[in-house]
Amino acid sequence: MITVTDLRKVYQQGNREVVALDGVSLEVPKGSIHGIVGHSGAGKSTLVRCLTLLDAPTSGSVSINGAELSTSRDQDLRTARRRIGMIFQHANLMDSRTALQNVAHPLEIVRTPKNDIRRRAAELLRLVGLAGFEDAYPSQLSGGQKQRVGIARALASDPDVLLCDEPTSALDPKTTDEILALIQELTQRLDLTVLIITHEMHVVKRVCDSVSLLAGGRIIEHGPLRDVAANLGSELSRTLLPLPASEPLGAGAVLEILYSGERASAPMLTSAARRFGIDLNVLAGSVETLAGTQFGHLRIQLPDGADPAPVAAYFGEQGVSVRLAEKDAV
Ligand SMILES: Nc1ncnc2c1ncn2[C@@H]1O[C@H](COP(=O)(O)OP(=O)(O)OP(=O)(O)O)[C@@H](O)[C@H]1O
Ligand SMILES: [Mg+2]
Repeated sequence: MITVTDLRKVYQQGNREVVALDGVSLEVPKGSIHGIVGHSGAGKSTLVRCLTLLDAPTSGSVSINGAELSTSRDQDLRTARRRIGMIFQHANLMDSRTALQNVAHPLEIVRTPKNDIRRRAAELLRLVGLAGFEDAYPSQLSGGQKQRVGIARALASDPDVLLCDEPTSALDPKTTDEILALIQELTQRLDLTVLIITHEMHVVKRVCDSVSLLAGGRIIEHGPLRDVAANLGSELSRTLLPLPASEPLGAGAVLEILYSGERASAPMLTSAARRFGIDLNVLAGSVETLAGTQFGHLRIQLPDGADPAPVAAYFGEQGVSVRLAEKDAV
């Protein structure tokens, strides 16, 4: 479990203060994967640096499985850092070293006995699906294989937390999914707590149990994936379950509806149309499965002059999330 409490980071830029993190609190349970998304300048990299204590937070605390990191000093700090494994966008392997020697590197630093190093590094390579590649050099490996070596290296110190900074941004879609599947499998197998910083919603959809949206150094939306997705009108829901742009067909009111689980759209639209004696035009729609739940998202338009309020209320009664779309967003 990783717990971040009221983390603040203020940089001094000349005589100006830049508040990069403005009171970030997070709790990620053991065995789960949390995604952090946010636009450029939101504070993602600063958060990573503060979590790994490469950068000292101005205030606030970070703890892993109840052990406080932010007050650790020197030797304690080095020990504490080993509890966090890191994966980056590029594996940053040492080109002159084989896959096995790259994985061995963190073990050499802490003076693990030689025989143990070989055995442990080979075991880690097997764990990430690279048995047989021990003696390959980075130049002989694909991008996905390099990232697997990077993951094996991150696991060498037997960390509790895996911090992934844009782990798949440099990979093609198929390799991205393979690496994400590996991260998911390792999370369960090793009971890791995983944080993934990403700008790719695909990553969040695919593996994250929960997600936070960082903006201006603050977490402005957060929660289990299923809950944030179901909150029509939240920024995360809009990016998780996007609808294609559409042209309105006239001056009629436009509603967006979001339903989940077993509720099917067709009977609902038909019954609403019958009840109010109006035609409902579907302008755009999408159906997606997120966190094991199916979500249907529709943009519908009422005829000219029809009052949207009772129709919206009716959908609401059916347990469907509904909102009046702003005209310029249609
Ligand atoms: N060393 C520094 N000194 C001064 N200001 C900094 C420093 N590092 C970051 N900042 C500022 O803190 C804010 C957050 O930056 P950060 O790099 O964490 O954003 P980010 O979310 O990682 O963005 P990106 O997606 O572009 O990488 C920005 O306003 C940035 O200018
Ligand atoms: Mg960054």
